[in-house]
Amino acid sequence: MEKILIRGGKPLYGTIEIDGMKNAALPIVFAALLVPGKCHIDNLPAVKDIALSLKILETLGARVEMLGPNSVEIDATCACPILPSADLTRKMRASYYLLGAGLGRFGSAMVGYPGGCDFGKRPIDQHVKGFESLGAIVEESEDGLITATVGEGGLHSGNIFFDVVSVGATLNVMMAAVTAPGQTIIENAAREPHIVDLANFLNTCGAQITGAGTDTIKIKGVSELHGCSYAIIPDMIEAGTYMAAVAATSGQVKINNVIPKHLESITAKLEEMGVSVEELDDAVVVTRTEPLQKCNIKTLPYPGFPTDMQPQFCALFCLAEGTCHLTEGVWDNRFRYVDELRRLGAQIEVNGKTASVTGGAPLHGTSVRAVDLRGGAAMVIAGLCADGQTVIDDIHLIERGYHDLVGKLTAVGADICRVVYPDPIVQLS
Ligand code: UD1
Repeated sequence: MEKILIRGGKPLYGTIEIDGMKNAALPIVFAALLVPGKCHIDNLPAVKDIALSLKILETLGARVEMLGPNSVEIDATCACPILPSADLTRKMRASYYLLGAGLGRFGSAMVGYPGGCDFGKRPIDQHVKGFESLGAIVEESEDGLITATVGEGGLHSGNIFFDVVSVGATLNVMMAAVTAPGQTIIENAAREPHIVDLANFLNTCGAQITGAGTDTIKIKGVSELHGCSYAIIPDMIEAGTYMAAVAATSGQVKINNVIPKHLESITAKLEEMGVSVEELDDAVVVTRTEPLQKCNIKTLPYPGFPTDMQPQFCALFCLAEGTCHLTEGVWDNRFRYVDELRRLGAQIEVNGKTASVTGGAPLHGTSVRAVDLRGGAAMVIAGLCADGQTVIDDIHLIERGYHDLVGKLTAVGADICRVVYPDPIVQLS
């Protein structure tokens, strides 16, 4: 029963270091399964989803050795395509990367239907369409087991035009195609920085992938990959979350180890709200001194405003002058956290895929819960601005994607701590 306790109202000053990107590290860790050799991966974020992925790889027979808190060596030479425990794979969405990696390496893979945050329907039809274009047969059993196999000839190259822009399907099909003879072309591909990061990792292992970061990716199949050393890119969503926190509380924080280009859509919205964002080579300095102005956001695939920053900006909008409209353009139902913000006093109306947030009403600390990873981050941001004490439950969901969130915020002056309940005597100073 871990909880986060926050006493709001403290401006933030100082420096925050950003970890490697969770959503890049996940496919890269699973892609190590494609490699019969040693992959040394640095800048790995020490978050629960990564620990779980490494555990899954170990159950498949890969050797996993932590070389430090943010470095791992994975040697999948002796790995084999067995079914990992459904308990493990259902705990997170990214376990579906086993399908692409398993098909590419062994010509077969099995996985329990992937879990993860509940944003409404999360189909994998585009992943299946991509695998089928490469010659795989994908079946789902009644109890939710997904099996992907290929006949004796192995996978072949294919042309795939995705019906929707899907990050996961783009990454998964890239993995499967990397050793398929001939040239595979993926059109209407996702363009997120983590697509480029996986392509760079695979190319460092000997793959021949071009066009990652555009909507057309070309993959020339190679016969085998080899080991490599690789460092994961910084986490733009972790960085964006702290940028929103500084904008919410006021103050000035330098956020280190970022790629400012990846943050452009977030920076643009903060500037529209009257927050200053200074871009340095690998850092941004966020300063808020003035009241927050209203603005509107629609989330879109990259380079649009990221859906994974939508809840954090909803919390920020609660503090702006006037009514802000927040439209979700990626997921069917990503407003489950709104009820929790309302418990803190937020005035939010949700109509279909748009939340209208009337800012300016004071937030008051109370007990809330993290309904999902980024929804939990929104509770932290709101709690940092609320009067009195906010207690956040279900923080294991936040810890899936943020390493040492409490320590990083404490270091810049927040009154925040993590407690294990029941412990009636713990109180913030
Ligand atoms: C990833 C991220 C998630 C983020 C999302 C969008 C990980 C582990 N998760 O999720 O945090 O919110 O990208 O940036 O990296 N779709 C289909 N059919 C498919 C696949 C997707 O219709 O086969 C739809 C989805 O329902 C959704 C949209 O496409 O509406 C985007 O989904 P997708 O980009 O695939 O998200 P994930 O990769 O699952």
